[in-house]
Amino acid sequence: MPVCDLRSDTLTRPTPAMRAAMANADVGDDVYGEDPTVRALEERCAALLGKEAALFVPSGTMGNQIALLVHTRPGDEVIVGEGAHCAFFESGAGAAWAGVQFAIAGRGGLYTAEQMLEALKPRSFHYPRSSLVVVENTHNRSGGRVFPSTEVARIAEAARGQGLSLHLDGARLWNASAATGASVAQLAAPFDTVNVCFSKGLGAPVGSAIAGTRDHVLAARRFRKMLGGGMRQAGILAAAALYALEHHRERLAEDHRSAALLSELLSGAPGVAPSRAETNIVMLDLQTQDAAELARSAAERGVLLNVTGKRQLRAVTHLDVSETQVRAGADVLRSLIHAS
Ligand SMILES: Cc1ncc(COP(=O)(O)O)c(C=O)c1O
Repeated sequence: MPVCDLRSDTLTRPTPAMRAAMANADVGDDVYGEDPTVRALEERCAALLGKEAALFVPSGTMGNQIALLVHTRPGDEVIVGEGAHCAFFESGAGAAWAGVQFAIAGRGGLYTAEQMLEALKPRSFHYPRSSLVVVENTHNRSGGRVFPSTEVARIAEAARGQGLSLHLDGARLWNASAATGASVAQLAAPFDTVNVCFSKGLGAPVGSAIAGTRDHVLAARRFRKMLGGGMRQAGILAAAALYALEHHRERLAEDHRSAALLSELLSGAPGVAPSRAETNIVMLDLQTQDAAELARSAAERGVLLNVTGKRQLRAVTHLDVSETQVRAGADVLRSLIHAS
């Protein structure tokens, strides 16, 4: 058993109570619209997110790709922040299925309304048509940063002024809500569609939901089918998501405290600059050491991290990492990291 597996919050295993909820789920064929547990999850998500309807999908990637298909036409340009998951970590799916290209607003993942407007192409047939703006909250690649609500409101107003649609990649919107105290409905309000994941901080084994107007969700259902995401007795999976929504949201604050603790325990160490943990992710910028080599040495001592750059590692706290494990992990890292 590793001392501490900090590679990702997707590594959690379903708890015994979650497994019991899955085993006892009432199911039917969801492609026929007859799975009561999936329907219950979709209704719960729509209500929580303050949208008319929601659709259960197998993954966050599919949720994002469906959003691109719903809001754009082939040849369009989509405005995203640097390192946006839908542009950088979805295997080029945006180009393959929706046929879109991406323009980057600002630097580092978060951006301002002015930077969004700068990224737009002039309205002329020479250029791709800008049609969609995507905000990622929290922003994964930048270290789980929360997108400030005041800036989101300014971006939304500017986007509306240009006739653009807005999609929120809220894979970790639950973390943004836990960190800010704003409800997920408040955070999702400026957007036409929102994608949320159950398989990250909430600890479910599978699944995401895309929410929006009834018309968006009707279109999304067709695209889900086209992408092969129609699932049959999916209530077994939806039951885990419902359980996670009920029982694992409150505790996200613990993950945030653990991440802050890790950042604090490493902040005095020579050779590393840990990011301030806004939520459950800490980026470790190494002064001189090779990140892959350090990750290998740490793994030999039971501490698992993701390599995110030549001199950068990522640590993510989650349901299956206790404060004690984080302290033990920090001790191992302190013994391996050095300034030269
Ligand atoms: C911000 C963000 N969006 C979308 C996804 C995709 O989710 P999935 O792995 O379920 O496809 C991830 C996965 O880590 C993510 O971090």
